[in-house]
Amino acid sequence: MSDRFEKLMNGADGGLALLQVLAENSFDSVLITDASAEGKIIYANEAFEKLTGHDSSSVIGKTPRILQGPGTDDKVIARLSNAMKSGEKFEGKAINYKKDGTPFIMYWRVLPIEVAKKVIAWVAIQREGSVI
Ligand SMILES: Cc1cc2nc3c(=O)[nH]c(=O)nc-3n(C[C@H](O)[C@H](O)[C@H](O)COP(=O)(O)O)c2cc1C
Repeated sequence: MSDRFEKLMNGADGGLALLQVLAENSFDSVLITDASAEGKIIYANEAFEKLTGHDSSSVIGKTPRILQGPGTDDKVIARLSNAMKSGEKFEGKAINYKKDGTPFIMYWRVLPIEVAKKVIAWVAIQREGSVI
């Protein structure tokens, strides 16, 4: 990102304001978890509600495993777990389930948010995929 952009965002909590505008208006689902071992959801945007049928307020404190079910590929989830253990980003596809049980292909990226070399949260960008 450009120096001018970083300078502007660092002043007056610009970074948080920008994050809010981006996440709340994103066409893609945005899900943020804490960095605890369970990975509890601390934020879900409106696009997440539309995609999954879950109210964002109802998923706070739960884990994204609520989206998984019998068709979810364990290998993809194991790959995600390994990436997270090494503090690395992940990208993949797996069958997930909406609140009403409808299966769909979730295509998603998970990225660590690092502050002072410590992962403080994980952010996922998610959308419905067409092929698996
Ligand atoms: C930010 C974030 C978003 C996630 N989103 C999804 C998701 O959309 N679908 C999914 O099946 N798993 C998702 N997961 C993975 C699960 O939360 C969990 O990390 C994964 O199942 C591995 O843990 P386990 O081995 O204890 O099940 C996400 C994880 C993180 C950290």
